[in-house]
Amino acid sequence: MRRTRRVALTVAASAMAVSLTACGALEVSGSSSDASPTKGDDVTVGLLLPEKANTRYEQFDHPIFKKKVESLTGGRGTVEYANAESSADRQAQQMQRMVDDRVDVIVLDAVDAHTIADSVKAAKDAGIPVIAYDRLAEGPIDAYISFDNELVGEVQGRSLLEGLGSDSAAGTIVMMNGAPTDPNARQFKAGALTELAGNVRVGAQYDTKDWKPENAEANMAEAIRTLGVGNIDGVYSANDGMAGGVIEALKAAGVTDLPPVTGQDADLAAVQRIVSGEQYMSVYKSYPQEAEDAAEMAVARVQGKDIQFDALVEDKVDSPTHKNIPAQLVTVVALTKKNIAETVVADGIHKVSDICTAAYKADCAEIGLK
Ligand code: BGC
Repeated sequence: MRRTRRVALTVAASAMAVSLTACGALEVSGSSSDASPTKGDDVTVGLLLPEKANTRYEQFDHPIFKKKVESLTGGRGTVEYANAESSADRQAQQMQRMVDDRVDVIVLDAVDAHTIADSVKAAKDAGIPVIAYDRLAEGPIDAYISFDNELVGEVQGRSLLEGLGSDSAAGTIVMMNGAPTDPNARQFKAGALTELAGNVRVGAQYDTKDWKPENAEANMAEAIRTLGVGNIDGVYSANDGMAGGVIEALKAAGVTDLPPVTGQDADLAAVQRIVSGEQYMSVYKSYPQEAEDAAEMAVARVQGKDIQFDALVEDKVDSPTHKNIPAQLVTVVALTKKNIAETVVADGIHKVSDICTAAYKADCAEIGLK
């Protein structure tokens, strides 16, 4: 199911967009008149992904995207792939290389959504359309595909309250937010706060550099020192990699009965922690829908199939530099012990045999996962 709700990314973003429009900045349109001339199946699609510290990009986004480009082009299309390993500078170089190589279209998941704007402009000036993937890059992008990221935060916040149960009113939580260079992190946090504000006390909060699990672990150790381990009733962790770091820090402080900890991404390790009760929840985001639709958008753009392209981007979003960007925002679902079979297993993301290894056999049996 796709949500068609319009999303104003941030108040500041919209205000900025208005003032830019007033001084003549371009409105992004759905027309492909400035895209490269229509091509056949021998397309080259550049794919730039941001990091490897979290598992999704190498395990799901890249392979699913590549397979879809190949199937859409009868095996004649190719994907030129680069992963920036959390370095914004490296990503700018990788993108320049793709422009020099004259790829037909670039699909970009930015390390730093603000600083990459110059590279987006350079690609656009060279006649190469850019589609922002998952994170909304600034600059003249042609379209954006992601999940409904505010909803991700809302789902996390609501689940955390559920996990805290009747204790929530008196509860103190730690917020482990994502990287400040990623606009999604802001949206996850804002979405979570719509549920949490007024219901819990936020004892400590962190922006986690590069979304790295080890940075989250260090931040959590600091929160434990500041608040006292017995005074932490729950942890809002923006994703699963960081939830792993948070749980390590709690265990290192001697906690055996872990408080509810949230996550996102349905990482295999997180699904196993959910099975064993160490992690309360994750958010399942359908990688096939995001990556396959992105591949379809990229190929349709290059091949001049405007009707197909427009049908994939029926939402609109504003970035700090451009407004009315055609977008698709895919919906998400809370992943708990109760729905592992109907989500990640049904979608072929993880096999029961991968989740229910020897160490998790008994827990899997208890929740009927087989
Ligand atoms: C993505 C998350 C991911 C995080 C860290 C966000 O932009 O939406 O799925 O966990 O980046 O890479």
